[in-house]
Amino acid sequence: MLYAKSLSRDAERIKRYLSRMDVIDNHNDVLHSGSYVYFPVNISDARIKKLIEKSGTGIVKLDRPANRKPSNYQELLKEKLGVAEMKELTVGFDLFGSIALIDVPSGLEKKEGIIAHAIMMANPRIKTVLAKAGPISGVFRTRKMRFVAGEKNFIALHKENGCMFRFDVRKVFFSGRFAFERTRITQLVSPRERVMVMFAGVGPFAIEIAKAQKKSKVVAIELNRYGYKYMLDNIKLNKTDNVTPVLGDVRTAVNHFKGFADRIIMPMPKSSDTFLDEALLAARKKAIVHIYTFAPVENQFERIKSEIVQHAKANGYKVRFISGRVVRPYSAKEAEVVLDYAIIK
Ligand SMILES: C[S@@+](CC[C@H](N)C(=O)[O-])C[C@H]1O[C@@H](n2cnc3c(N)ncnc32)[C@H](O)[C@@H]1O
Repeated sequence: MLYAKSLSRDAERIKRYLSRMDVIDNHNDVLHSGSYVYFPVNISDARIKKLIEKSGTGIVKLDRPANRKPSNYQELLKEKLGVAEMKELTVGFDLFGSIALIDVPSGLEKKEGIIAHAIMMANPRIKTVLAKAGPISGVFRTRKMRFVAGEKNFIALHKENGCMFRFDVRKVFFSGRFAFERTRITQLVSPRERVMVMFAGVGPFAIEIAKAQKKSKVVAIELNRYGYKYMLDNIKLNKTDNVTPVLGDVRTAVNHFKGFADRIIMPMPKSSDTFLDEALLAARKKAIVHIYTFAPVENQFERIKSEIVQHAKANGYKVRFISGRVVRPYSAKEAEVVLDYAIIK
């Protein structure tokens, strides 16, 4: 690739000159290195090359751009971490608005500041970096996190599928990894459907559905009072007044919505399958259920299907399995899956 190399102080003049000659290659970036600026140029004519050189710039050939901006934080870190440390580094991070959550491998804790700064440099919209300080645990499915670098902020403003969600990342469960599932299910909902979202968190399933189907009625039940509080904020933020937020335990709250739902969403993989009584109670004569669960990598749907069939037999209703998909790999032996099925009373 050919570049016209100019001293930074002459760059404006050279740029005007190159533009007049119509030789700037707009498909490539202008590079900066030390006190030089490099303009990518398309020159096939030796006479033009001479003219440009006369204007006070040299034409240089660069195989590798002089200061190509690293496209990801690993590339930036290559200069700061050893080879063994680079191998330890986990590639991705979770993103909640402008907050990144990293998983620091043991042994690299002392370098977490360096890692965090590299992440912020490579992704200018990230303003805060937090580190995981424990697993997701407890009924509320939250995790401990510690502040690493940037602005000391724990309140995320996260955009997903055209909706905004505000929440404290330490106090509630939220994961952008379900964005596709939320789109998938939202697209299945028809106008005026009555939807129940059990385990609603800060409201992503409920709000995305309610926004897409303004005539539908969505009930969203959440036990964590912080999750409920942020769900109220998010309903306002997204102007979705067709969501009825409920603070409480699905096991009792469902009694207020007997026979309510055309569609029931059960997004709590750890224990959704212990709420089949509640799903039956909430269902209308016919209802579609989306149940999330952890399943072995082999024969993913066998266990959950057999639980549902047994429950149906014991309670005198019919089921029709519609489809199943793997939401994400979870561990070497388990995956998170979703099964869609119909309850027919
Ligand atoms: C895995 S999170 C899913 C949150 C949300 N649906 C989402 O996709 O972001 C499960 C949620 O269920 C809530 N939860 C747990 N047990 C519950 C119960 N018995 N009744 C209502 N909510 C419950 C937790 O507080 C948590 O917010």
